[in-house]
Amino acid sequence: MLLENLNNQILKCEKCALCKTRKNVVPGEGSSKAKIMFIGEGPGKNEDEQGRPFIGAAGKLLDELIALIGLTREDIYIANVVKCRPPQNRDPLPEEVEKCRPWLDQQIEIIKPKLIVLLGRHSMDRFLPNQKISLDHGKPKRKNGQVYFPIYHPAAALYRNGLLEDLQRDFKKIPRVLEIMKKDRAVNNKEERAKQTDLGI
Ligand code: URA
Repeated sequence: MLLENLNNQILKCEKCALCKTRKNVVPGEGSSKAKIMFIGEGPGKNEDEQGRPFIGAAGKLLDELIALIGLTREDIYIANVVKCRPPQNRDPLPEEVEKCRPWLDQQIEIIKPKLIVLLGRHSMDRFLPNQKISLDHGKPKRKNGQVYFPIYHPAAALYRNGLLEDLQRDFKKIPRVLEIMKKDRAVNNKEERAKQTDLGI
């Protein structure tokens, strides 16, 4: 299926109660051929109003970070764990994450990113449960053949002192993670693929 067709289906989704309070669905944005996919938590107020991901203050910081590694939004894909805004920006409920799970899974299946950058705790929990963002940020992990790179959420770096430096440092590792992956034959080895392993950076 084409990403555009999938996203058109997502726009009509009424699988959970968030459809009653949303203004717009925010399926995601960027290149369907992106090597890197960024996954956030869920749309906020601005995103809900415009139907686009990461366009508020956290989005501005994300753009700056992407520029830091010589890329623009056209080079990557940005999506969220849930496609509709949780009221008052509360955390998405487990059942909302579950209902949205097939949409994000299908987006990943179509884009086939080499690297998935997990923005913040909720995004990390969705793919790498039982880890701690404060301990595991900046450490790439391979699971079922997919490489994930958990980092702090840009919004957290805006209101918590010290996190911005961590976020910038982690972001700058992304080109090196991609380089290491090229040499890491285990990514294509069946037995290795089944395990969750550190990528050693
Ligand atoms: N925060 C997110 O996690 N996603 C957005 O799209 C915007 C802010």
